[in-house]
Amino acid sequence: MITASIDFGTTNSVVGINNNGVIEMVPLGKESLETKTVLFYSFEDKNFYVGDEALSELKLDTLGRYLVALKSFLGAAENIETTLGTTTYLLSDLIAIILRRFKWVLDKKAGQSIERVVLGRPVRFNDDDDELDQQAQDRLEAAALQAGFKEVVFQYEPIAAALSYEKDISKEELILVADIGGGTTDYSIIRVGRKHAGNRKEDILATHGTYVGGNSFDSEIIRAFVVKHLGQGSLYKNMGKEMEIGPALYNDFSEWHKFQKMYDPNVIYSIEKFIYMAYDKDEISRLLELIKEGHYFAFSEKIIESKINLSFNDSTQIEMNMFEKPFTQELTQKAFNAVISHHTDKIKSTLAETMAMANIEYKDIDRVFLTGGSTLVPAVSNIYKELFAEEKLVHTDVFSSVGYGLAIYAGEVWEPYN
Ligand SMILES: Nc1ncnc2c1ncn2[C@@H]1O[C@H](COP(=O)(O)OP(=O)(O)OP(=O)(O)O)[C@@H](O)[C@H]1O
Ligand SMILES: [Mg+2]
Repeated sequence: MITASIDFGTTNSVVGINNNGVIEMVPLGKESLETKTVLFYSFEDKNFYVGDEALSELKLDTLGRYLVALKSFLGAAENIETTLGTTTYLLSDLIAIILRRFKWVLDKKAGQSIERVVLGRPVRFNDDDDELDQQAQDRLEAAALQAGFKEVVFQYEPIAAALSYEKDISKEELILVADIGGGTTDYSIIRVGRKHAGNRKEDILATHGTYVGGNSFDSEIIRAFVVKHLGQGSLYKNMGKEMEIGPALYNDFSEWHKFQKMYDPNVIYSIEKFIYMAYDKDEISRLLELIKEGHYFAFSEKIIESKINLSFNDSTQIEMNMFEKPFTQELTQKAFNAVISHHTDKIKSTLAETMAMANIEYKDIDRVFLTGGSTLVPAVSNIYKELFAEEKLVHTDVFSSVGYGLAIYAGEVWEPYN
C-alpha cells in the first residue's frame, strides 16, 4: 500500500511516501526537501503558483497577490474569504490548491493516485477554544479531500517528530520534543524506543502547545523597529488639531497572514488621507508604496533575513532598499531579545504546563529533541539550555523531522490492516 504524508507548515512544507514500509521523502523545493508554504495568484495569467514556483514568479516581478501563513487562519472564528480576479475563495479552497499541488508531486513519484494521507497538525490551532480547534482541523481535512485525497488521518506534529527521533536510537528513552516553527510552539513528552505492537497511547505522557512561533518574532521586529519608518508616529494636522499616526493602522500590516487586509480600498484611502495631512510625507508614503508597488515580498524577506542574521551575530542592519526613499535600521540581538521576551516567556511557561500535565520533573527527561526553524533563535534554545544539561539536547533535522515522522506514522496507521 502507498500512503502519503504532509507536514503542512505555517512557513515550510515537507512531504513523503510510505510504500509498504519503505519511506521516501519527496523534494518539494528546487534544492531542498521543503518548500515555502506560499501561494501566488498572478494577475497576468490568472494562475496560482505554489511554493518555489510562487517565489520564482515573485522574483520575475509578476503582478499578483502573494499569500502566506494560511495555516494561521485555520484556528480563527470567522470565515476567511479572499477575492482574486473574479472569484471568491474560502480558506479551505486556497489550502486545497496548495495540497493539490503537493499531491500531484507525490502521485507523480508514486506512479499512481495516492488516496490516503497523514497530515500533521499543531497540538493547538487555537489556544483557548476547543470548538475552534476542532473547526481548524475540519477545515484542513476539507481542503485535503478537495485536493483529491479520500482518507485523511491527523497526527500531532511533535509526536511525528518523536517518531523521527526514535529511528536513530537503540534503547528506551523518555523524551521531550519541542517543535517551534513559524506559527506554533508544540510539545510532546513521550517514551520512545520501546518494542511494542504499535499502540503508543500509554507512551504519550503529554502533548501541549501554544500559538507562538517565528512569525510572532517577525511581527515584533516590524512593530518595534520598522513601522516608525513607515509613518507610525508621524505628525499630521486635521481640522486644526495636531495628531500622531497611531498604531492601529499597522496591526494587520505587521502579521504576515493578515497583510491581505491592507489591500482593502478603505485602508488605502485612509493611508492616502494621512499622506495628504502629514507634515513629513516620506515615511507614510512608503506604506502606500509597499502595498501598491508589490514590495511586500521583498519587505518580508528583509525582516526574516534580519532575524536569521541575529541567530549568528550580535547585530545586523535591515536595509530596506526597495523603496523610492530607502532606509536602514540597525537591530541588535539584545534589543530583539527584549521585544520578543513575552513570547519566549510563553514558550517557557507552556513547557512548565506540559511537564505538569505529564506529572514529571525536568530531571526525569532523558533527552530533549529541539526541532522547527525557530529553535535556531538563541533566546529560544537558551530556554532549554538553562533547564536541561547540555548533553541531553539533540538539535537536528529542524525542517524535516515532522515530515519524516508523519511518513513513519502512515505505516503505523495503515500497514497493520493490510
Ligand atoms: N536560522 C534561523 N534563525 C531563526 N529563525 C529561523 C531560522 N531559520 C528559519 N527560521 C524561522 O523558522 C520558522 C520556520 O520553521 P519551520 O519550517 O519549522 O516552521 P513550520 O513547520 O512551517 O511552522 P509550524 O510548524 O509552526 O506550522 C520561520 O519563522 C523562520 O523564519
Ligand atoms: Mg512545523
